[in-house]
Amino acid sequence: MLRRFCRPYRRWFVIGPLTKVVEVLFEIVTPLLVAHMIDRAVAGADSSELLSIVGLLAAMAVVGFLSTLACQKVAALTAQGFGTDLRSALYAQVNELSQEQVDAFGTASLITRITSDVNQLQLAVALTIRMLIRWPVLAVLSVLSALLIDWHLGLVFLLCLPVVGVIFWVVMGRSLPYFRVAQEKLDRVSAIVREGLAGTRVVRAFVREGHEQQRFEQAAAEQADVSVSAGRLSALLNPLTLLVLDAGIAAILVLGGGRVYAGNLTQGQLVAFVTYMNQALVAVGYVANLVITYTRAGASARRVTEVLNAVPSVRTAADAQAGLPAAPACALELRDVSFTYPGGGAPALQHVSLSVPCGARLGIIGGTGSGKSTLASLFARSYDASAGSVSVLGQDVRAWDLAQLRGCMGYVPQRVALVRGTVRSNLLWGRDDATDAELWEALERAQAADFVRALDEGLDAPVEADGRNFSGGQRQRLTIARALVRQPRVLVLDDASSALDYATDARLRAALQEMDGLDATVIVSQRVASVRAADLICVLSGGEVMGLGSHDELARGCAVYREICETQHVDLPEACMLEGGR
Ligand SMILES: Nc1ncnc2c1ncn2[C@@H]1O[C@H](COP(=O)(O)OP(=O)(O)O)[C@@H](O)[C@H]1O
Ligand SMILES: [Mg+2]
Repeated sequence: MLRRFCRPYRRWFVIGPLTKVVEVLFEIVTPLLVAHMIDRAVAGADSSELLSIVGLLAAMAVVGFLSTLACQKVAALTAQGFGTDLRSALYAQVNELSQEQVDAFGTASLITRITSDVNQLQLAVALTIRMLIRWPVLAVLSVLSALLIDWHLGLVFLLCLPVVGVIFWVVMGRSLPYFRVAQEKLDRVSAIVREGLAGTRVVRAFVREGHEQQRFEQAAAEQADVSVSAGRLSALLNPLTLLVLDAGIAAILVLGGGRVYAGNLTQGQLVAFVTYMNQALVAVGYVANLVITYTRAGASARRVTEVLNAVPSVRTAADAQAGLPAAPACALELRDVSFTYPGGGAPALQHVSLSVPCGARLGIIGGTGSGKSTLASLFARSYDASAGSVSVLGQDVRAWDLAQLRGCMGYVPQRVALVRGTVRSNLLWGRDDATDAELWEALERAQAADFVRALDEGLDAPVEADGRNFSGGQRQRLTIARALVRQPRVLVLDDASSALDYATDARLRAALQEMDGLDATVIVSQRVASVRAADLICVLSGGEVMGLGSHDELARGCAVYREICETQHVDLPEACMLEGGR
């Protein structure tokens, strides 16, 4: 799965290790040369012969150094390129996933997967190029060279290796699960940091810093605990292998001394032998580290591929119809729609049926948590209904081309989402090619023209992340303007005027009423004043429709609606509960 991200860098995966092979060969030859030099010196060779050997050694050192540099560079370029490609692919995939899937992964977890997990993989790629060939080859060649020098002594050496292998197998097998849990704990830590940072003001206003701090510390401590457990296990690896190999060296020195004395081995050869042992020992240590890195990368790879392999659950059907329906009789229609958020809990909507004729306005009213936003989000297919069907402009949303459906819809979410940039760049999200005149017209209609005009830079005034340099009401109006720039056929306003005063809200509604080309408007609100002029009002409570009709009809026949009106001091006609209202 992740292999395709390595493919563009295939040749580096060959060239990098090749430079390492050069280095390894030099490292193998060096002890032989040194042994030769020692034996010649003991035998009383002249200094010019010794000097030429020193020169050769120096030249090999320089070439070895240069090839190391080249390899470092190749490894860095490849790892960075791989990481960047993988991150882009993950980000693109996250944008494809439905809201439901993003909720299921969790935003914080997606962030750690794109950052920390990709970093782990990047490290593994760099090590693959720099180490994967080098250390095992060095270990094997060192052992072979030692055997060639003296196979009797070499046998001691060979006895050590299976012991080391068993140690690896046991330790790595046990620590793998820890690494996965550690990354999951990291998700939790970043979730808490995210919540804390996003709600700094609320946290301070409610004097919850201490509580938040505690929550963070606990999560961080849990993460640390797991990491320490994992670390403790892998920390065993190096000392244990070193212990085995050091014991081997001690044995060789004792036995080897005897063999030099007996004349079976020269002094130079014994020095070379011990050097090979040391080299093999260091190599095995590095191989151990390599295995640890791969183990961690394996855990990360699984988390990354989980995201990459997720099949977007809301997507355009293969047989979707292209082209917009011309003039449908019914702009919006819900047929027995129920919806439950993933992760269970009570259904957010139950058996909702309604139909909005073309050109009409639908009002949705109800208390917090009654399902208003959920209902509003079904039209743009942010979620798919669990049961029943949703139609927009006479066509089932599942049969729509997704981009086209969203393209003809202006959606103003309850939670304002402005992005860093300028007023203009935010408005152009509505439609890339809108002219300034069109932007101003949208601002005018959204009752935002006055305050934008008052800004020094006008349309080019900066907008900070989340639009935090604007007041709540200003942000709402900018978001409405953005939706209007699109010249939508269906406009959905989810509590879009909650931060506006009554007079501005009234002017906004009047301006929207005059808009051309709208096939339907959906106004979600908790205020009777915002929905009372709508052609059809849907009263929600606990996800169920409590009443459906015009203001006058509901004011007479729907007990829940009357109750809402009374708390908001709206004048009511005499109740007439005969029409089946609840
Ligand atoms: N992303 C979500 N995941 C799980 N439950 C949710 C989610 N969003 C809303 N809910 C639940 O669905 C119900 C309806 O929520 P919502 O439609 O936002 O209500 P309203 O907009 O009327 O305040 C609530 O009980 C809420 O807790
Ligand atoms: Mg809501």
